[in-house]
Amino acid sequence: MTKPSTDTAQASPTKQFFVSMLTRDISLADAILDLLDNCLDGAMRLANGNDVDYAKHFVNIEIAEDHFSIADNCGGIPRDVAKNYAFKMGREPDDERDSDAETIGMYGVGMKRAIFKMGRNALVRTRHGVDSFEVPITSQWLEAKNWDPLPINEPTEAKEHLDGAGTTIFVTELYEGVSRHFANQAFENEVRTAIAEHFTMFIQWGLKVQLNGKPVEPVRVEVLVSTEEDRPAPYIFQKTIDDVLVSITVGLNTGRGLGEDDEDEVGFERDRSSATAGWTVLCNDRAVIVGDKGLLTGWGDGIPLYHPQFAIITGIIEFRSKRADKLPVTTTKRALDTSSNVWLESRVKMKEGMRIWISYTNHWKNHPRSDQSTHWESARPMALHRAIEAVATRKLTKTTGDAVEFNPQKAKVLPEPEDKKPSSRKIVFSRPAEEVRLVSKLLFDDQDAKPGIVGETCFEIQLTKAKKQGN
Ligand SMILES: Nc1ncnc2c1ncn2[C@@H]1O[C@H](COP(=O)(O)OP(=O)(O)OP(=O)(O)O)[C@@H](O)[C@H]1O
Ligand SMILES: [Mg+2]
Repeated sequence: MTKPSTDTAQASPTKQFFVSMLTRDISLADAILDLLDNCLDGAMRLANGNDVDYAKHFVNIEIAEDHFSIADNCGGIPRDVAKNYAFKMGREPDDERDSDAETIGMYGVGMKRAIFKMGRNALVRTRHGVDSFEVPITSQWLEAKNWDPLPINEPTEAKEHLDGAGTTIFVTELYEGVSRHFANQAFENEVRTAIAEHFTMFIQWGLKVQLNGKPVEPVRVEVLVSTEEDRPAPYIFQKTIDDVLVSITVGLNTGRGLGEDDEDEVGFERDRSSATAGWTVLCNDRAVIVGDKGLLTGWGDGIPLYHPQFAIITGIIEFRSKRADKLPVTTTKRALDTSSNVWLESRVKMKEGMRIWISYTNHWKNHPRSDQSTHWESARPMALHRAIEAVATRKLTKTTGDAVEFNPQKAKVLPEPEDKKPSSRKIVFSRPAEEVRLVSKLLFDDQDAKPGIVGETCFEIQLTKAKKQGN
């Protein structure tokens, strides 16, 4: 039996250890995205439960050899939040903020981790309402052995006040590797693409993000939807699973198909970007994954592996919850927690949707594109929610409990090639090239029409005659 003594053993983490552990597993680009997440959470808090008007908000980011800065007008940090929570390393269990908002912040590390990843000196300048203040994080503080609280400084000069409610973070004394990345155009491009992808929804809603003075353009992830009841529409599925609203759509990103090249469309094929092919996964409007074509999202798992025939298929899945910890994301928020039940259940539906379009592209393989594209003429590209709204009103959309599902195959709205229909017969024949040119000249006053077109036109002419006689 022992008894306590007046001696104690130190058990607090050293700053150096803490900082190196904290920043180890996050990439520089992801750390920057974390800061943008904070801006958007700020905008959401500012809206106080109402819809956020993202067009009113901006985020300006600068990355350069000797500094980093991010400036937003997203409401700023309230003083009591700065005093008690914002600069703590890790969220306090009693921090009940945002429990009823779709914010993404949950661990209480993102901002600090980003700063520590980049450099030894930082200044967080913020204005909430009319209250302005600054919190410096200096290299002296970082090197000090103790965990003294950070100072909160009041502005004394006009230039220390922000123009409106918002936050600006400056980081200087960048680490050497970071400085080299920031000076590199390739890295700037990487960050630009990451922002364009991950924050595409917000940018599409009007959020203005600038990187080094140039606006970031959103990537578009959309599926084709016809608003006509009997015309093609994507697969949709929506259901609440474990407090998370899951919305899924799988469809085509072009109605022009990947069949045989019609001559006039050869150029089109070369231009068409398949960036949005595959699966895009959104969590509370942030794209966690864009255009995945691997096992993660079901390809090659009971369905074929991805290959270029499927480049016209786009899938979008969104998880939405006011409880950020219920979302199937990892701590870096840029990867999925694939063991979560909500993900596993959703993946079954994702594959169900994919099967429809895999079989569709199989049917249309080796067919002239024009045959297919006429069926898609009335279809328009739509982002996930517009697509779901448009399809949900169809008569053949099934509602069971709180689940909504539309299967275009079962609803029989997908076009089939003529020769795949059981009542059709295929005609194939060959003639000397010279004869084909002669008939082509007769029909089109041009000897170079495609042989298939020449043959088909001859048939059409005879068919019209036959029908007339029949009447
Ligand atoms: N740009 C900003 N605008 C408004 N508030 C901010 C901003 N940046 C940080 N904050 C405040 O600072 C807090 C701490 O940010 P930090 O990113 O470290 O943690 P978090 O967002 O709560 O959680 P996570 O680690 O999951 O990102 C936020 O909860 C928020 O209150
Ligand atoms: Mg955060």
